[in-house]
This record gives sequence, C-alpha cells and structure tokens, in this order.
Amino acid sequence: MKQTIKIHDKFFNRYFGAEKIQKAIDSLVQQVHDDLGDDEIPIFIGILNGSFMFVADFIRVYPTNCEVTFVKLASYEGTESTGQVNELVGLTEDLTNRTVVILEDIIDTGNTLSKIYDIFEHLPIKQLKLATLFFKPDVFKKALPIDYIGISIPDRFIIGYGLDYDGLGRNLKSIYQLKTENIKNIVLFGPPGAGKGTQASILKEKYDLIHISTGDIFRKNIKNNTELGILAKSFMDDGDLVPDSVTIEMLKDEVNKHRTTAGFIFDGFPRTILQAEALDAFLAEKGEQINGMVALEVPEDELVSRILERGKTSGRPDDQNESKIRNRFNEYKTKTEVLKEYYEKQDKYYGVNGLGSIDDITCELIKVFDKL
Ligand code: IMP
Ligand code: MG
Repeated sequence: MKQTIKIHDKFFNRYFGAEKIQKAIDSLVQQVHDDLGDDEIPIFIGILNGSFMFVADFIRVYPTNCEVTFVKLASYEGTESTGQVNELVGLTEDLTNRTVVILEDIIDTGNTLSKIYDIFEHLPIKQLKLATLFFKPDVFKKALPIDYIGISIPDRFIIGYGLDYDGLGRNLKSIYQLKTENIKNIVLFGPPGAGKGTQASILKEKYDLIHISTGDIFRKNIKNNTELGILAKSFMDDGDLVPDSVTIEMLKDEVNKHRTTAGFIFDGFPRTILQAEALDAFLAEKGEQINGMVALEVPEDELVSRILERGKTSGRPDDQNESKIRNRFNEYKTKTEVLKEYYEKQDKYYGVNGLGSIDDITCELIKVFDKL
C-alpha cells in the first residue's frame, strides 16, 4: 500500500485504513439501533456525493428493517432579496411521520449541516437524527446537534473512502491526509496607494496562494445575504463601523472555504491589534501561523501624488482632494501602524521599498517571500 500519493497538484499521506473505518461504522450502527429499537423502520438519507461508501457499509450491518435513499444539496443564487438558496435534489419519498437518519460523510465548518437542518425542520417528520462518519471538532463552531460521531479528526483535509479532492480520490480504501509543509500565510501591508492590490495579484499566481481582501469579502457577504453579511450591513446602514468580531468571523469563513490551499495573502486584514490576535489564535488552532508581515514602504509625499494622479481618471472623489488624502494617512498611521510593532515584536516584519517600477517591486517582494 502506498504511503504517499499525488492527486492533481497535491501530495497526501496515508492516515488510516479500512479496518478503523469499519470499526467506527459498527459502533455508529449499534448506537443508532440501540436508540431506535427493533420495531422502528428508519429511513436513512445519505448526502451525496461523499457519503455513498459510508451509507453502503452502514446499511450492510444495520440489523433490522430500514429504508435508504440519497439526496444532493444544491446551492444557487436567488434574487437580490433571497440571496443563497438551498435545495435538496432527489428527494421523492414521503417522509410524513418517518424517523429520518441523515448520514453524512464529513462535517467540517457545519455550513452544510445548517442548510440541511433548515430544510428538514420544515418537513412533517416524526424525528430527525444525524450521524457523521468524520468530524473536525476544531473547525465546527455551530450550535447544532450531531447525534452520532464516528471518528473525530484534526483540521486537515482528507480524501478517500468517498471523499474527494477536486473529483479524485473517492475510490481509495484508506483515508489520506493532505501534506501541508510549506504553508505561507502572509499579511501584505502598506498605506493606501502603495500598490498592494497590484502586487498581491502577481504574487498569488507565483506562489499559488489565495488572496483575501477584506473589502471583497464584505461585498460578497452582503451581496449573497449571508448571516454575517446581513449583520455587517446593519452596522453600515446605521453609519457605524463593523465591529471586529463580525469582520473576524467573515475572514474565518473565507479561510475555511479554501481547504487545500498552500497559504493566503491577507490584504486589508488585520487592521487592529484585536484582529491580529484573533488571526494568530485561529491559525494556531490549525497548526499554522503568520509567516510574515510584508510591508510596502513608500514616502507619504510620493503616495499623495500617486493618488492625485489616479484621481484624475478613477473618478473617486476621495482621490482628488489632497487634505482628504492626508486624512486617510493619519488614520492609517494612528490605527494601523501599531500592527508593524505587533509583528516586529514577533520578528515577523519585513519592510520592502515600494518605490520603482511594478517589476522592480515584485522582485523585491519575491526575495522576501522566498525566505518565508
Ligand atoms: P462543511 O459545510 O464545512 O461542514 O463541509 C462539509 C462538506 O465539505 C463535506 O460534505 C465535504 O464535501 C467537504 N469537506 C469538508 N472537509 C473535507 C475534507 O477534509 N475532505 C474532503 N471533503 C471535505
Ligand atoms: Mg458531504
């Protein structure tokens, strides 16, 4: 049996095998059957695609009468007011007065689970139970019940036994864990007009990183009417700043969506010490860290003339008035520059000269990124 395999662009190490999986399933079956008894005929509902192997092996050992069916959870964008819409595809059985047991392959953030609960809550069933084969307790932050848990695992991406990475790996009999040695998490820092956005889009390609810009996340959450988006909007509509706690939750959500990335470039985050501390704590839970804060250093006068130049074509009124621009800098200096100290104390601050052509600056940044 191979200890390391390659799927698409990633390497995976063997984690555990079929025997451990079957033991967990035997125990799940026993717990479910103990709770339901001999006379209850449950209907087991597997959530496709990942659960098909689990459901097959579960059913095979279930000792009394039962039914089985599968559904798929589909998410699509509704109208402006309905935002994300979730729907179960493939459910044709009448569930009235039935005991329904959902079988999930893996629960990670619990986002999928909360969508499932939303849907089943409105059905006239007798009772709802949920069993998951794999569970990541460090990531799961929802206040939702999970009745039966097979195997708890750390917050690492796994494949095999029905679980895939981009479509592949479902046929593996063992579970394999993503090899994550050279994760790079970088905070890209610098005042307005320093060229962060331009450089981030070049560097993310070169290092295969995910570029997370807080501004983009805000806009996306608000557009999709997510719980956090609605919350953020309520502060913005009242003319208040969105509290750190909301910003932090949005960021975590976004990070958790990219389960197999080689790292992140954070842009526009953290903005406060509280956010920086929350980010450190969050990454530590994953066994990761910020590798460095890389700052583009550009003298203020140069920035002002750059922004004024941009203002001639950007049409942004805040780009056209020198005193407003200087105001933005003061804000940056008083609130955000304390972060430089925060990362300096951890020996993680790297200043890069932000003057010169785009190519020159990219070269300087690469020298630093390669060290991190
Ligand atoms: P959640 O909504 O974050 O709980 O994630 C649930 C879904 O994400 C699962 O049904 C899987 O499709 C996928 N997923 C989460 N973690 C993993 C993993 O480690 N390997 C493969 N798929 C995963
Ligand atoms: Mg699933």
